[in-house]
Amino acid sequence: MLTSSTETVLEVRHLTKIFSRPRTSLFRHPEQQVAVYDVSFSLPKGSVVGLIGETGSGKTTLGRMVMRLIDPTSGSIHFEGVDLTRLHGKPLRVLRKRFQMVFQDPYSSLNPRMTVRQTIEEPFLVHGVLPDKNARRKALEALLLKVGLDPADLDRLPGEFSGGGRQRIGIARAIALSPNFLVADEPVSSLDVSIQAQIVNLFAKLNKEDNMTFLFISHDLNVVSYLSDYVLVLYRGLNVESGPAQEVFNHPLHPYTRLLVSSASPNDRSAESPSSDTSAGTGQSPPLCPFYDRCPERVEACQNEPPPYRISEKNETPVMRTPWTHAVSCHSPLGKTVPPKNDHLI
Ligand SMILES: Nc1ncnc2c1ncn2[C@@H]1O[C@H](COP(=O)(O)OP(=O)(O)OP(=O)(O)O)[C@@H](O)[C@H]1O
Ligand code: SF4
Ligand SMILES: [Mg+2]
Repeated sequence: MLTSSTETVLEVRHLTKIFSRPRTSLFRHPEQQVAVYDVSFSLPKGSVVGLIGETGSGKTTLGRMVMRLIDPTSGSIHFEGVDLTRLHGKPLRVLRKRFQMVFQDPYSSLNPRMTVRQTIEEPFLVHGVLPDKNARRKALEALLLKVGLDPADLDRLPGEFSGGGRQRIGIARAIALSPNFLVADEPVSSLDVSIQAQIVNLFAKLNKEDNMTFLFISHDLNVVSYLSDYVLVLYRGLNVESGPAQEVFNHPLHPYTRLLVSSASPNDRSAESPSSDTSAGTGQSPPLCPFYDRCPERVEACQNEPPPYRISEKNETPVMRTPWTHAVSCHSPLGKTVPPKNDHLI
């Protein structure tokens, strides 16, 4: 849900992550894997931004960098105006109350030996919030009701719940201290289809009622389309297309997004087969188009020049470009080229 407020919760600039893989022999340099390359975007307060792309495209790496679970190689992450990349130790722990992550696998993200009470009480104890035991008990009960569990469940163990129940516990823990930003990494993909809709609706409720901002990572374009205000498409670590979700899904500009959108139909799974090399390049210079080998629309320029940044012809007022104007990184003539000095998605 987007309000008219233009307050920015998260601002990511030129974020890059290059992993070093262990050397395979004494005589070889360690290999480098570019997982995310030069990605920039911002999240307006109360928005849901869907992050999509095939396996290995860098979605989790981007989400984990934003959460400061891993360090970026370069770039900045401003959360509520504070540069997270410069925060360490206690100041980072204190701020972490305000941004949390929901993980894909509710089985491994919960400690099987901790009761629901211990699991969701822990953030209160760690951060010294609600020291009064009675007030804390009431808060825990309210949390369980909020995520659709029964307060009588407080003394049960995660193993006594279904997958959906465990994901609700994970969500209760993540929202325990009322964060205003959540990264949800494939939070429904390990659940039965019948349960998925319930959990998706829970996210929609948190967004609508609490004005919570989300970076929502998913392979499921139907879920992303249902929840998201904006969408960002990653391909081999590069942001190849972004914009208002319905515009991107209804009028995809990048050949890869078009493949992805068409493969959301049950008869075509072609976009789900990533090529064996998922790296964006060496990270030393702007990479040429990473989709070149698979692209049915490539032109000569694609071989020699990095794809230009273009905005959709459908944008009525390109000069008044907002951070989420529908944009694409491609030589394809579907969009208007903008001058290179314009920073991507700023
Ligand atoms: N710790 C790591 N060390 C080395 N390479 C890594 C590491 N973590 C991720 N990678 C590589 O970075 C790339 C991006 O991985 P990532 O997990 O972010 O992709 P993803 O889009 O989340 O994929 P999936 O949809 O399968 O979850 C992959 O090529 C992966 O092998
Ligand atoms: S830049 Fe060229 S090769 Fe890459 S997606 Fe666009 S048209 Fe295809
Ligand atoms: Mg992932």
